[in-house]
Amino acid sequence: MFAREGARVVVADVDEASARAAADEVRARGGTALAVHTDVTDLAQVQALADRAFAELGAVDVLCNNAGVALWGSLEDATHRDWQWVLGVNLWGVIHGIEAFVPRMIASGRRGHIVNTASMAGLVATRGLGIYNTSKYAVVGLSETLVKDLAPHGIGVSVLCPLGVATRIRASERNRPAHLRNERTREPEPIALDGTTLAPEAVAELVLSAILENRLYVITHPESLEPIRKRFQRIERAILEQQPRHR
Ligand SMILES: NC(=O)c1ccc[n+]([C@@H]2O[C@H](COP(=O)([O-])OP(=O)(O)OC[C@H]3O[C@@H](n4cnc5c(N)ncnc54)[C@H](O)[C@@H]3O)[C@@H](O)[C@H]2O)c1
Repeated sequence: MFAREGARVVVADVDEASARAAADEVRARGGTALAVHTDVTDLAQVQALADRAFAELGAVDVLCNNAGVALWGSLEDATHRDWQWVLGVNLWGVIHGIEAFVPRMIASGRRGHIVNTASMAGLVATRGLGIYNTSKYAVVGLSETLVKDLAPHGIGVSVLCPLGVATRIRASERNRPAHLRNERTREPEPIALDGTTLAPEAVAELVLSAILENRLYVITHPESLEPIRKRFQRIERAILEQQPRHR
């Protein structure tokens, strides 16, 4: 989608073959794209990615911190490795992207935009997704702060919060590194997703317009509204019903 709009694109992924395939597709259509093998859990690799991107393109105007993995299961069954893996990719990956790119984006003096991929799971906590919810709530909080911090520099921020999108997210274990695999493997719990499942292209279009219109929240599914509203109503009731006796 970015390439179609004339952007030069760097595709970074721990799955090098997929990154190369995406870059090839852009090049086949006459665009400019570069694939860089990157494990976002490793700051040094993300710094190397930034070095490469700035060296080859001269500037980076849009940064998408999108890599993510999902893991289903009750929190009481979560292992330390589960926490390390999911927070390592979903939260530290975003932090590393910011550490490696933002200072150079600011130094370039150009207008820019950052897109952090959270999820509807960053706005309403669904049962059976505890580690994922934790990581995505953190990405929402980080993005809501980043938008304020970067406004004086002319850099906008969007946080992408989808429900279901037809991707390979349910096969996230394919990229789990050996040292973070559990000794005993658990059967993944079947979780029915609420709402419709969007095509990635539909989500990409919404992201693109959010960048152009400088919108913070990218809430892709209208059916997210009711659960979000109910959450805020529960918070509102808690405030109204629980006043401190002593001031
Ligand atoms: N698909 C959905 O229903 C859905 C809903 C809400 C949010 N999201 C979020 O969207 C983002 C993209 O996921 P997706 O749905 O396209 O799933 P996907 O599994 O198709 O793509 C995730 C990508 O992240 C890469 N990745 C995994 N670990 C990595 C690492 N350590 N370093 C670099 N890259 C790594 C994978 O190789 C893969 O290309 C994620 O942040 C996910 O949490 C997805």
